[in-house]
Formats: sequence, structure tokens, C-alpha cells
Amino acid sequence: MDRNLALEFVRITEAAAIASARLMGRGDEKRADQAAVDAMRKAFDSVDVEGTVVIGEGERDEAPMLYIGENVGRRAANSPAVDIALDPLEGTTICANGGVGAIAVIAVAERGNFLHAPDTYMEKIACGPRAAGRVSLEKTPEENVSVVAEVLNKRVEDVTVVILDRPRHADLIQRVRKLGARIRLIGDGDVSAGIAPCWEESGIDLLMGIGGAPEGVITAAALKCLGGDFEGRLKFRNAQERERALKMGISEPDRIFKRDELARGSVMFCATGVTDGPLLKGVRMLPGNRGQTHSIVMRSATGTVRRIEADHNFNIKVKV
Ligand code: FBP
Repeated sequence: MDRNLALEFVRITEAAAIASARLMGRGDEKRADQAAVDAMRKAFDSVDVEGTVVIGEGERDEAPMLYIGENVGRRAANSPAVDIALDPLEGTTICANGGVGAIAVIAVAERGNFLHAPDTYMEKIACGPRAAGRVSLEKTPEENVSVVAEVLNKRVEDVTVVILDRPRHADLIQRVRKLGARIRLIGDGDVSAGIAPCWEESGIDLLMGIGGAPEGVITAAALKCLGGDFEGRLKFRNAQERERALKMGISEPDRIFKRDELARGSVMFCATGVTDGPLLKGVRMLPGNRGQTHSIVMRSATGTVRRIEADHNFNIKVKV
């Protein structure tokens, strides 16, 4: 994959972030999400790829744009063929409430390299580089927290685990509390929370628990670029969802998928902050009809992580 593409993709996440950030705190999840989708879809047209959305807004009949299977990009004769996993607004409720950690995100791989995860749940574990290869869904939560403490040279009591605040995690939360580790409960947004252990200053050491499966694939791509680790196991709500996974080509839907099985080969990851979070600052609306965005762009082939702060002049720029 051409490295210059990574910088093209960031323009797409910037557009989605700006559009949804304009609706921050308005209490309208749907509108904020729609604004991000519209902006992202439009921005794709100027990028020279032959892209196919493999993780997107849903099935064709339920998502008018950026649906799974949709072709995106300029699609010129020699445009590279890539698969795209995207979430124009990861954390719709966060954005609607002006909360912490909403991002616009895209991950890109060569054709056929992302697991085509259906819209179901996934049990996840995500950690930073030092704990890579040492934590696993095959281990108990107690074992995983202890391993993280050991590799980070911390007391178990000083390890911070991020968990989505959901009734389904009552047992997990209780077990982590019993161990004495610290917990950060989040309302939403397990992509940025899953990437956070790669940055010491985030204060997060480990993500555990069940969240969206598509978000799991996107997180795996990011962690591949950063040298962190991830495992996921699909969690179906019913037999139809399991059937759907089989139809989507997942022949062993109940097994654990490792990071590089979710995101194979060389991948790129781009995200722009919508609201302030552990990874990125949110969109700033500045005097004079200007704005500022903060993004990260990374590639697994080189491990380079670029942080891009962009000033946007909306007086000149085509309206996003
Ligand atoms: P949306 O942006 O689609 O609202 O997803 C937010 C999110 O919190 C994800 O980060 C997470 O993986 C998933 O929802 C958890 O699902 P649920 O809210 O059903 O527990």
C-alpha cells in the first residue's frame, strides 16, 4: 500500500470529525452520526483508491451510505484495491452528550485482509506493547491483570483496567475489584479505550470486556500499527447472528481470533478526535469561522505514528 495514502485518509476522518463535532452535546445521536457518514462518504470521492467497505454502517438495506460491500474512492484504472473498515462516528452517544473519547476512524488493508465481522458482539482483551503475547482470552481476568502488573513493573493495585459500563460486565468488574486493581468504567467508545494502553500517559493498562465486533477489528488494526496486542471472540446474541457469521465466511465462529487474524498483512489506521479523549483532542471551533483537528495516522509496515494537528479555515474550505 502506498504510504502517501495514509495522509489522504486523514482528510476523510477530519471531515467526519468536523461534521459531527458541530453537533456535539445536542442530544441527537442520529443526526451526529448522519453528519459524520455524509461527510466521510463525500470525502472518499477525492481519494485515489478502489475501496470496498468491509466493516461499515451496516447491511445495504439498513444503511443508505457506507454499507458493507459499498465501493468507495475515486476508482481510477490503476487505483490500489483496498478493504476499508470504518466508523464515521465511534461513540455516537458520547458526541451527543459532549462526553469523552468520540473519534472518527478508518482502517485500511489490502483486499481480503480484514475479518468480515458481522454486526454482533465480541469479547475483547487489548494491551500495550509490553504485555503483547502475554495476555489472552484463554486466561482468567485475574491472570491477565497479574501479567500486566508484572510486565509493567507495577503493583496489581496500580494497574488500571478499562471496562464498558454494562450489566453484562458485573462479574468481570467484581473480579477485577476483588483483585484490587483500578477500574475505569466508560459509557461508550471501546476503540479509543482499547488503543489507550499503548500510551503510558493515557493511564490505561488493559481493556477487557464485551463490545461491538466491528469495533474489535478496527482496534486490532490500530494495535498492529502500535505493537500492542488484541484478541477477540465473537459473542452472538442469537442463532441468526451466528448463522450470519458463517455466511460471511467465518468458518469457526466460536474460536478466539488473534490480532493478526482480524487484521492481516500491512494495515493503516487513521483517527480524528471528535470530543476530547485519551487518544486525541476533540475538534476545536475557533474564532473567525475556523477549526482545529487532532488526528493520528499510522502504518503497520513501518510502525510510524504521525500526530497531525490541522487548522481549518471554513471561510475558504468547501463546507463540511
Ligand atoms: P456507537 O458509536 O455505534 O454508538 O458504538 C459505541 C460503543 O460504545 C462501542 O465503542 C462499543 O464497542 C459498543 O458501542 C458497545 O455496544 P453496546 O452499547 O451495545 O454495549
